[in-house]
This record gives sequence, structure tokens and C-alpha cells, in this order.
Amino acid sequence: MKVLIAYHSDTGNTEKVAKAMKEGLDEEGQEVTLLHTKDCDPLSLGSYDLILLGSCIIGGGPGKSAQNIIRKVTELPPKIAFFYTHGSNRPYPKTFKRLDKKLEQSNTKVLGTFECIGENTTWTEEEQLNMVPPEKREQAKIYMDSIKGRPNEEDLAKAKEFAKSLIK
Ligand SMILES: Cc1cc2nc3c(=O)[nH]c(=O)nc-3n(C[C@H](O)[C@H](O)[C@H](O)COP(=O)(O)O)c2cc1C
Repeated sequence: MKVLIAYHSDTGNTEKVAKAMKEGLDEEGQEVTLLHTKDCDPLSLGSYDLILLGSCIIGGGPGKSAQNIIRKVTELPPKIAFFYTHGSNRPYPKTFKRLDKKLEQSNTKVLGTFECIGENTTWTEEEQLNMVPPEKREQAKIYMDSIKGRPNEEDLAKAKEFAKSLIK
């Protein structure tokens, strides 16, 4: 199968997940192209058999270049799956919702979504704690400590397995 993994990543977390997915699909003998969404032509998507579209969560939604793909794509592939990384401990099930209408109008099968936590490394710990009300800082520090280094080996192994499961 001709597979495209297209992802928006600012600090590398989602890119790590995308690369783990590529590793899984490579092992399954698939023909995989890995691209940052800023380098991806939205009009090329229809030429693949399967697309894995991913992003980090920025302000509650996908990053700009992933949004650009969603807005401009005209032809979708027969199969699509989604993935995203987020800093908070809650998932964002509506991340790719803006594609729903186009999906409804196509014959594209949605195979599933993979999500995992990604440590926010854009700001220092101190900067992040300063964004939180003083009474919530202790709890925030515990949470931040708990997600250090994520996506970790376990997350990446899960991402790889998820990708493999898409072609079985
Ligand atoms: C400007 C900015 C906004 C963010 N907004 C959110 C958010 O709304 N919800 C969330 O869970 N994480 C948010 N995050 C955390 C990132 O989604 C998370 O760290 C992600 O793994 C980063 O992925 P990347 O390394 O691929 O860019 C934000 C991070 C930045 C820098």
C-alpha cells in the first residue's frame, strides 16, 4: 500500500510518534512517505491508499499546517487514520472534526485515532507554573513531573503497533 504519514509538530513530540508509526509500517513492507504537513501538498492526498494525519494540540486544536491540509484537501484516500499528542491529561476527540463533512462526502473509511501525551517543552517549568493560579501550582508540578519525557518508549511502541494494526 502507498501510505502517507503527514504530521504537524513544533517541538518534535508528534514527529517522534509519526516516525514510530513509519517504523511499524516499514516493517510490514508498506511504501511509506513521511512529511511534515507544511511540506505536504493537500491536493496530493487522493493519490495514496492510506493516510495517517497527525498533529500536536495547539490552543485546543490541530497546528496551523495540519489545519491547512484539512481546509484545502479536495480528494481523500480510501482509508485514513488520525493521531495527535497533547500536554494535558485529557484527550481531544474533536481534533479532526473539521474534516467530517469532506469525509461524509467521500468513500473514505476512518480506521481510528491514536493519541498520547507529549511533554510541553516550549516553556520552562517555571514559566508554565507561573501560568497557573498559585493554589493550583503544587498539583500542576506533580502532573508536569509525571509527563516528563513523553512520548516515552512505551508511547512510541503503542504508536508503532497502532500503525501496524491499520493494515491488518
Ligand atoms: C502554544 C501551545 C499551545 C498548546 N495548547 C495545548 C492545548 O490546548 N491542550 C493540550 O493538551 N496541550 C497543548 N499544548 C501542548 C502540546 O500539545 C504538547 O506538548 C505536544 O506534545 C507538542 O507536540 P510537538 O512537540 O509535536 O509540537 C500546547 C503547546 C503549546 C506550545
